[in-house]
Amino acid sequence: MGERLKDKVAVITGGTSGIGRGTVDLFLAEGAKVVVGDVQEHRGEEMTLTLGDNFSYCQTDVSQEADVKNLVDHTVEKFGRVDCMFNNAGFGGVGGQLDEIDMDGFDTSVGVLLKGVFLGYKYAVPVMKKQGSGSIISTASVAGLQAGFGPQVYSACKAAVAHLAKTAALELGEFNIRSNAICPGGIATPIFASALELGANAADEFAEFMKPRLAKLQPVARSGVPNDIAEMALFLASDASTFVTGQIIAVDGGLTAGRMRGLSDAVNFEETINEFLSTHQSS
Ligand SMILES: NC(=O)c1ccc[n+]([C@@H]2O[C@H](COP(=O)([O-])OP(=O)(O)OC[C@H]3O[C@@H](n4cnc5c(N)ncnc54)[C@H](O)[C@@H]3O)[C@@H](O)[C@H]2O)c1
Repeated sequence: MGERLKDKVAVITGGTSGIGRGTVDLFLAEGAKVVVGDVQEHRGEEMTLTLGDNFSYCQTDVSQEADVKNLVDHTVEKFGRVDCMFNNAGFGGVGGQLDEIDMDGFDTSVGVLLKGVFLGYKYAVPVMKKQGSGSIISTASVAGLQAGFGPQVYSACKAAVAHLAKTAALELGEFNIRSNAICPGGIATPIFASALELGANAADEFAEFMKPRLAKLQPVARSGVPNDIAEMALFLASDASTFVTGQIIAVDGGLTAGRMRGLSDAVNFEETINEFLSTHQSS
């Protein structure tokens, strides 16, 4: 148990799974009070039962303005302030080739992946301005830094989220509010199964299944894990980083450092999904 976030209050969206869940555990262990906004109510209820008084869950669809406003209001009511807003909720978004993409899927994807992040800024900023401090962190992606790491709409939204971290930093610096984005590489989480509608438990199994495959993706020869991103979020939320703002920080085991020889046959997501489905259905 550390004290790097002692007396700080953090909001984490998408905190019932994967990177967000890992960040909840680390932030609580470092003394923060944490509110999670997510759509997975059953998981939020389980976490409320086990994580103690410094934790609170608020059912939130980040693409809905009223929900995000309610999330921030809930946090201020419960814990009195918002020191860190971690805009982390996300999913793979709509897939397909450019000329096939369904526009309802496009709107839903942009709603969660870009509007959801923007709303986090919109409602955290007034609270942080009153306090005279705050740290806003958003989860972008290596897919927003380089082409070829994700679907079209996902990648475009993540690039926008990364850039928003910079434009917001310019506006917010004078209020002592910092704004940064983290770009994870291949992190073993249920996100890779989000399009498969497998249910939460099978999606967790799929994350484990991905680990040896993701290990081949980058120079550091292991899969990324949620704690890798949580540690960067901890740094950005803590007073260790009070001179760090407007930055887009890749936490990717070196994936974006350059192209590795032999990378082309490292991970075929379609094959991996089919392989998982065949073992899952037969078990
Ligand atoms: N896992 C990776 O390799 C990777 C790489 C780059 C970026 N990311 C980003 O990291 C973030 C976290 O993803 P993860 O890998 O932990 O996946 P995950 O599926 O484990 O977690 C995503 C969480 O977001 C929640 N969520 C989805 N839509 C929501 C909505 N409309 N409102 C509120 N909550 C919602 C989900 O319920 C889930 O709890 C995402 O923004 C994702 O795009 C992940």
